[in-house]
Amino acid sequence: MMLPEALEEVSESSTAVAQAVWRGLVATPRSLPPWLFYDATGSALFEQITQLPEYYLTRAERSIFARDAAAMLQAAAGGRRLTVLELGAGSAAKTGLLLAAALRQQASVLYQPIDVSPTVLALARQNLEATLPGVAVEPHLADYSTQPLPLHRPPDTRAMVLFIGSSIGNFTPQEAVELLARVRRQLAPGDTLLLGYDLAPGAASPQKSVATLVAAYDDAAGVTAAFNRNLLARLNRELGADFNPAEFAHVALWNEAESRMEMHLQSTRVQTVRIPASGAGPELVLPWRAGERIHTENSYKYTRQRLQQLLAAAGFAAVQTWQDEPLRYFAVTLAAAV
Ligand code: AVJ
Repeated sequence: MMLPEALEEVSESSTAVAQAVWRGLVATPRSLPPWLFYDATGSALFEQITQLPEYYLTRAERSIFARDAAAMLQAAAGGRRLTVLELGAGSAAKTGLLLAAALRQQASVLYQPIDVSPTVLALARQNLEATLPGVAVEPHLADYSTQPLPLHRPPDTRAMVLFIGSSIGNFTPQEAVELLARVRRQLAPGDTLLLGYDLAPGAASPQKSVATLVAAYDDAAGVTAAFNRNLLARLNRELGADFNPAEFAHVALWNEAESRMEMHLQSTRVQTVRIPASGAGPELVLPWRAGERIHTENSYKYTRQRLQQLLAAAGFAAVQTWQDEPLRYFAVTLAAAV
């Protein structure tokens, strides 16, 4: 789909937000879906997170691409022409390393970012077309987690689907398999998936301590805390709720049994929060106990082995895996549709 000339951020409809909030906050335990983080303020805060000294994920993945992009693109192409798709439009910086490598093996490349945000798609297109002549950007406005991939494949072309940035971490393993299987159904044998994921501390990443991992989600400057609390500010802005974000503490913890980082917002005292009636339902009057939490995010961490099981269950076979050196905190696996 081509974008309209004048780009207006048509963010999630307020009904979708209200429904998600209704569903999550009347449940026990309370939770909110992580897609709610990314309004304009939240997206800017996430951009800051990727530059924090503690948040190693973005740097580690970028260093892998900087070193190994040529090998990845060559393995994906197998001598054929490639078209590159991306689930979620990545920052032009990281995706640019991969597309630049594609341009060293073919004169031009069709890049198809799929995202729910027209603003993000427009930025990706602008940045990439300015810096990489030879890249044709064809943005698709779609929710890749619910809609089929709008895959446009010129004849005799192999598709390479990027799912990078540890985005897979927000899905439960079961949801991840369902998502990858849905991607697989749009692909032909020989097409590939490039998956970037964060490794679990311990055997999968011996140099990564739990403390290192927790610090990545609880930085000294408090940017991640602000990112987490912005969720409440967003509900105040968009739904007229009366949260006092300062009365909810940012909690980041490692859940070893589930192999995931969790973020929560924890009420610092007994309080009542009102959310006015909306299309989603009547007024909500929510009582809080001191210490009561809203679960706002899961970020699953994988072993290479476990990740390969997910891939296999979804119809992919791992081809090759690359890691950042010398820390080996992060991994990127190329997998082929079988
Ligand atoms: C965008 C889902 C990869 O889980 O690390 C960063 C989001 N949350 N800090 C992650 C996030 C808190 C991030 N992902």
